[in-house]
Amino acid sequence: MDVYRELHRRSIADPEAFWAEAAKAVTWDRDPVRVLDSDRPPFHRWFPDARINTCRNALDRHVEAGHGARTALIHDSPVTGSKSSLTYTELLDLTARFAGVLRGLGVDRGDRVIISMPMVPQAVVAMLACARLGAAHSVVFGGFAAKELAVRIDDARPKVVVSASCGIEAGRVVPYQPMLDEALRLARHTPERCVILQRPQAPADLTDRDLDWDEAMAAAEPADCVAVAATDPLYILYTSGTTGRPKGVVRDNGGHAVALAWSMRHVYGIGPGDVWWAASDIGWVVGHSYIVYAPLITGATTVVYEGKPVGTPDAGAFWRVIAEHGVKALFTAPTAIRAIKKQDPDAALLARHDLSGLRSLFLAGERLDTGTYSWATHVLGVPVVDNWWQTETGWPITAVPRGVGGVDVRPGSPGVPMPGYDLRVLDPSGHECAPGQDGAVTLRLPLPPGTLPTLWEDDERYVASYLSAYPGHYLTGDGGHVDEDGYVFVTGRTDDVVNVAGHRLSTGVMEEVVAAHPDVAECAVIAVRDELKGQVPRALVVLKSGADTTPERLEREIVAEVRGQVGAVASLKQVTVVPALPKTRSGKILRAAMRDIADGHDTPTPATVEDPAVLHALRRTLRPED
Ligand code: COA
Ligand code: AMP
Repeated sequence: MDVYRELHRRSIADPEAFWAEAAKAVTWDRDPVRVLDSDRPPFHRWFPDARINTCRNALDRHVEAGHGARTALIHDSPVTGSKSSLTYTELLDLTARFAGVLRGLGVDRGDRVIISMPMVPQAVVAMLACARLGAAHSVVFGGFAAKELAVRIDDARPKVVVSASCGIEAGRVVPYQPMLDEALRLARHTPERCVILQRPQAPADLTDRDLDWDEAMAAAEPADCVAVAATDPLYILYTSGTTGRPKGVVRDNGGHAVALAWSMRHVYGIGPGDVWWAASDIGWVVGHSYIVYAPLITGATTVVYEGKPVGTPDAGAFWRVIAEHGVKALFTAPTAIRAIKKQDPDAALLARHDLSGLRSLFLAGERLDTGTYSWATHVLGVPVVDNWWQTETGWPITAVPRGVGGVDVRPGSPGVPMPGYDLRVLDPSGHECAPGQDGAVTLRLPLPPGTLPTLWEDDERYVASYLSAYPGHYLTGDGGHVDEDGYVFVTGRTDDVVNVAGHRLSTGVMEEVVAAHPDVAECAVIAVRDELKGQVPRALVVLKSGADTTPERLEREIVAEVRGQVGAVASLKQVTVVPALPKTRSGKILRAAMRDIADGHDTPTPATVEDPAVLHALRRTLRPED
């Protein structure tokens, strides 16, 4: 623990010295002289005078160093029955050519490109090609509905959209073209062109607007790296906030590369040539950081998996991939492990595979329950490391740093703060909580490199959302405490963000859809516990007087509407009619109290409640077993 403690102490006492040292792990076009610019508080910018290209760090420099023959990417796709791999030279060649395609379409430094693709190598190529040109990509998860894609198109105003003709979910083909057409119909902004990867499972009918990926690539001239300011945006990733409007988290180039290089080695213990697998989706931050950028910046091999933990074809799929490709460390969400455990509780399918190369299992994205932790530890026989972070931070706030050593896993805790994160748990009046006492988990500014410098074209919202509650501190939106030894415990969100199977969604977005139903007078969508997905949303609705419907019909209609407007991934399946929603005397819905009840906490009835009987009735509805 001493080595870690000293490392963390140095990073907080002298962040500039710490990160200047870490910055040596990346290749700069102009070396940083100044490390941190704090001239415009509360904004902070890392490496303000440096120049860099992230794609060059991920690809070119490894080829130039003689490692071109090393495998960069393994694509394993049980849903299409295919496996393939690309060396660093091959991935560089494809990326340079696709950068040429984008350049031919007028994409330049500072432009935006929206990428909506399934888990195929071309998705990684498209992201890296944007980085190569200094254009910011914004990847939109394929499980979102057209409306959500439209909102992102309007906010990012991309010059080009890159998509595929379809995605493949276990057992069904999901055509992307109708969704893209609908999104472009709904959006006010019109991108100039769309590049579509045709997949044989469901080719799309291309229009004049569209370019066929293969044809465009065949005709393309490779484009070289464009050196950009370290502070230029590498990407925008939209994430759910508490309102219906997603937040465009901005990631810079320089700080991001430095932080990811540091984390890959020190948190995840992965070096050049190691095979690493983050079983997530490129639509989420885990996919950005740990499927694409961190492993490639490190010179490791990244596994891109197009499948599920179960059903493609069975609960042994993860073990097969680990054994077949010699995976040294797996990163996934606890939900995936719960799904495997449910189908194969004795891990009988694991015995068929040689997992001797696996050194660690990393879990993040949602709370890790002790049952899942113990099961995974028992069946795998390797350290199971919980790590806590969010889209905004881009890399772990807390973890057990496997590459530093000397820090033990403490079940129930996602570890200790990583360098640069000055974590403080604050009470409502802004005082620091004593060890063991729950409060708001905050991070004292400046945040370390790699974290969000702001929200896309919205400094005001950035400050209002994250920096206003406790001046000088970043509000994570999670509650929790720190124990006597410095281990952090995260109890859950203190706002209306819900975590469904490790996917972050906003109950506000779903409420907008539910409230629009003609029979609904008012509603609330809250997160309730779920054995498999951790949390699932549940809608509570009050009917308009005289509404002519049945609970079954209402549920059917609302479920279909949320699926159609937010996306299948929202997994809203339960709609409950209640006589009233608990409110304060001033008429505000008591969301926090409802969250607590749904979570099983026995918090006292808030003093501001208008009618305690409504709250008690709700408790009986949400927790009939009590
Ligand atoms: N494109 C289109 N639809 C998608 C999609 C995509 N990229 N991803 C998910 N969906 C759909 C699914 O098909 C499903 O539709 P259905 O309601 O018709 O079955 C719905 O969205 C919910 O998907 P999912 O959350 O994946 O649930 P599931 O029931 O299909 O599978 C698990 C359950 C546990 C196997 C799955 O949730 C899982 O793999 N979880 C791990 C999550 C993870 O890795 N998160 C990353 C954060 S680190
Ligand atoms: P996302 O931005 O999608 O990565 O979601 C971030 C949120 O997921 C956090 O604010 C937490 O609420 C939750 N989360 C992520 N990792 C963990 C973890 N290891 N333990 C508990 N909650 C987590």
